[in-house]
Amino acid sequence: MDADANASGARVFAYGTAADEAREGLPACLAGFMRLCADGFAQGWHEANGGNLSYRMTPRDVDDFAPAFLPEGARGPWRPIATRGVTYALPRLAGSHLIVTGSGRFLRNVPTDPSANAGVIQIDPAGAAWRLVWGLVGGGSPSSELVTHLRGYDARLAAGDDCRVVYHAHCPNVVALSTLIRPDARTWTRMLWRSMTECVIVFPEGLGVAPWMVPGSPELADATRDLLRTHRVVVWSLHGIIAVGTSFDEAFGAVHTVEKTAGLYLAARAANGGAEPPRMVTDAQLRAVCDRYALTINEDMLDDGRLATR
Ligand code: 13P
Ligand code: ZN
Repeated sequence: MDADANASGARVFAYGTAADEAREGLPACLAGFMRLCADGFAQGWHEANGGNLSYRMTPRDVDDFAPAFLPEGARGPWRPIATRGVTYALPRLAGSHLIVTGSGRFLRNVPTDPSANAGVIQIDPAGAAWRLVWGLVGGGSPSSELVTHLRGYDARLAAGDDCRVVYHAHCPNVVALSTLIRPDARTWTRMLWRSMTECVIVFPEGLGVAPWMVPGSPELADATRDLLRTHRVVVWSLHGIIAVGTSFDEAFGAVHTVEKTAGLYLAARAANGGAEPPRMVTDAQLRAVCDRYALTINEDMLDDGRLATR
C-alpha cells in the first residue's frame, strides 16, 4: 500500500500502520476504523454503546470497498439527513461515502464483526439524504449522532480542512472534570495547556466546550458544528469528547491527549488537597513552545498579553 513520508522522513500511512494497510481481504480504511474502535475500548472510553466513529472515504477507499457494497437493488432506501424532525442539506458532502458505527452498537464489537456493528452510507447528490450500501447486517441505523458527525465534516471542509474522521468518546477523566469545572473554553484550555507541556502542540487553537445538552439533539449538533469550525476537539460537558482529524491517528491522538491530561490535572489537584497545583506551565513557556514549533497560539487563551492591555 502507498505510504508518504512526513517532514521528518518517517513513513506515514493514511489509515494507521503498515499492518492495518496489509490486512488481507479488508479495505484498508475499514482496518483503520476497526483498530481505532479497539484502541478506544481498550482505553475504557466505550462502555456499552457509548461513543461513535465515522470516516469519510477517499475515492480510492470507495474503489477498494465497492466490490463489497450491496448491489444497487438491495441498497437501503434514501432517508433524509435529519435528527428529531430537523432536516439538513450539506452539499459539501454530496456523493460522499462514510463508514459509521451503528446506533446502539458496542464499539468493542466492531473489530470482531464490523459488518454487523458498522455500515457504509452514501450521501445523495444534493447532500440531503443517505442510504446504506454496506453493513449493519441484521438491521438498525447509523449512530444517533450521525447528523452531528456530518455537520462536523461540513464545518471542517468549509474551513478548508480535509477532515476524514469524526470520533466521539466517553472519556472518564474529561467527564469527571466537567462535574467540577464550569463549561468555559478558556478555563478548560488553560487548565490542560498548563498541566502538560505538549498539549499546546496538539491543540494550539484551544478546546471548544459545549454545556450539557441532550445527546443526538439538533441543539448539540448546532453547538458542535459552530465549535468545530475553529477547534479540533470539543468537550461535551458531563458526556465526553468529540474530535476531528485528517486521519485516524490525528483524531485518536487528540482525544487521548485531552483525556490523559484531564486525568493528570485531577490527580495533581487531588494531591494538592483539592486546590490548583502551584507549579504549572506558564504563559511564557506556552509561547516558547509555539515559537519553537511555528504554531499559532490562540491569544485569547493567554493571560500575559491581556495584562498589558487591561
Ligand atoms: P449511538 O449508539 O447512537 O452512537 O449513541 C452513543 C452515544 O454515545 C450518544 O452520544
Ligand atoms: Zn455519547
